[in-house]
Amino acid sequence: MTEIDFGEVEAVVAKAIRQRNTSELRLLGHGEISVVLAWPTDAPVAAVKRVPPFRDRARALQYVDVCDEFFETLRGAKVGIWPTTLHIHERSDGRAVVYHQQPIANTTQLGSNVLRAAASADTHPLLDAITDAAARVCSRTLGFDCQLANWLWDGSTATQIDFTSPFALTESRNELRYDSHAFLQEYPVVVRPYLKKEFTSLLRRFTTAEGALGDMVANMMKEGLDEWVDPAIRTINSRLGVNLQREKAQWMYDNDRKLLPTVLKVKKVQRWWLTHTGRRYEQLLPEKTTYEK
Ligand SMILES: Nc1ncnc2c1ncn2[C@@H]1O[C@H](COP(=O)(O)OP(=O)(O)OP(=O)(O)O)[C@@H](O)[C@H]1O
Ligand SMILES: [Mg+2]
Repeated sequence: MTEIDFGEVEAVVAKAIRQRNTSELRLLGHGEISVVLAWPTDAPVAAVKRVPPFRDRARALQYVDVCDEFFETLRGAKVGIWPTTLHIHERSDGRAVVYHQQPIANTTQLGSNVLRAAASADTHPLLDAITDAAARVCSRTLGFDCQLANWLWDGSTATQIDFTSPFALTESRNELRYDSHAFLQEYPVVVRPYLKKEFTSLLRRFTTAEGALGDMVANMMKEGLDEWVDPAIRTINSRLGVNLQREKAQWMYDNDRKLLPTVLKVKKVQRWWLTHTGRRYEQLLPEKTTYEK
């Protein structure tokens, strides 16, 4: 994979965060957590995803270990992995920023785009592949984010592309196995304990195949892929022998649609507060969540 100077990436990202202006960056997409950049901006050779900074190198290493274990689990489950390398950039303030580097994907192969382009049918091999992958990966302490926008489909293999926030829980299932402060620092201190509890409980949704795939269906509703909702539910129920109901997925979608725009607003308030009190805000926030047009 091409050598990238992540100090340089971090400098450009820091400037964009400071100026709240992404015009010097080339964005490939964003989810609810990370923003994905094409790098270098003028002649891109790679996709880079920035994980919010850890307080020190040890915590960044702990996160990298959890990611490595996640790759190992996926390999063991025979799930396709988009080639991904992790890089720790230590900043002069002592913080450590992890970047994921990948080849730039052909987005016509993105699961959501594949189904959007496909003629409607009772079933699709991509839905079969994702359902079987979820069944092999989900466990009590490992959630799997199976939404269609996290997969590439080349016509025969489903390949996962999203590794920035592995849903790896401790035995008690009450905590992530890496320092969640990195993700929580974007929120006001008073709401962090509440959010930590909310998010951890949300993550437990993904620890069963039925929950993870219910979330995938909820995301199809978000993406306007309504004609694929019933085929997806039929695929899930017949392959897993479960009884996922459309109403359940609708309920998840309705909840997320309310929660995530609120969460982004809270982050923007915190950004305002920190930057108006002379402190540094650490995340490149999208203009809108993927729930808003
Ligand atoms: N390697 C890549 N090449 C091109 N586009 C990409 C690549 N990786 C991600 N993207 C685009 O960016 C979007 C978000 O990427 P990804 O799912 O990795 O981010 P995320 O913030 O972790 O999302 P989530 O909300 O699932 O946590 C993808 O759906 C896709 O559109
Ligand atoms: Mg994603």
